[in-house]
Amino acid sequence: MDGLIRLSERLYTLNLSPGNRVYGERTIQHQGREYREWNPRRSKLAAYLLKGGTGLELSRDGRVLYLGAASGTTASHISDLVPDGAVYCVEFSPRSFRDLVRNCEGRPNMMPFLGDATRPEVYATVVPEVDLVYQDVAQKGQAHILKANMDAFHASRGMLALKSRSEDVTKDPIHIYAKSVAWLRSSGLVVQEVLELDPFEKDHAMMVVTR
Ligand SMILES: C[S@@+](CC[C@H](N)C(=O)[O-])C[C@H]1O[C@@H](n2cnc3c(N)ncnc32)[C@H](O)[C@@H]1O
Repeated sequence: MDGLIRLSERLYTLNLSPGNRVYGERTIQHQGREYREWNPRRSKLAAYLLKGGTGLELSRDGRVLYLGAASGTTASHISDLVPDGAVYCVEFSPRSFRDLVRNCEGRPNMMPFLGDATRPEVYATVVPEVDLVYQDVAQKGQAHILKANMDAFHASRGMLALKSRSEDVTKDPIHIYAKSVAWLRSSGLVVQEVLELDPFEKDHAMMVVTR
């Protein structure tokens, strides 16, 4: 993928805003260009890629709806990967949103929206159709939220960073993953990949779905 490199078991994305960092990450020069290190302990998507996940498909002009953007750590790396595209970032905590707005500055392809991912009809008035819905809201009902947003924005792909404990803290994560996979399949989606994110993120799995 354009803009993504792996050197000595570390991931880096080509910095869309050279000279600027988002969360104190290390930067390096590689072949005359600035790259930002993508920390797998701060980003489930980086953990997924480092563990061998193959489901992230993005073109330079890809459009991504990012649900649960927090301050924009992972979203900023996606913004590096779609320099001619867009990352629409939805976050419902006003405090995180303030940091998100700051981190979108200098990144013209990264747009912050203060909103609730369970109500896509609200931001559908301002967000266009997208290629990928990436969902990391860490609240109950994550599979439903992913599907509702894929439908609302006609996305062909979805990625779900599923936090087992948000669904049911008393149940074995394997049981929670199986239940979510079954629900996604019953809703008509194809589950392409399920990858546990330990040791980077305990009790989390990344699920990649297509239509
Ligand atoms: C685990 S954090 C996200 C971390 C972020 N994805 C990253 O990798 O940089 C989960 C975020 O989802 C937000 N969130 C939870 N429920 C939400 C909802 N219904 N709509 C929008 N954001 C939500 C929380 O406020 C929190 O900032």
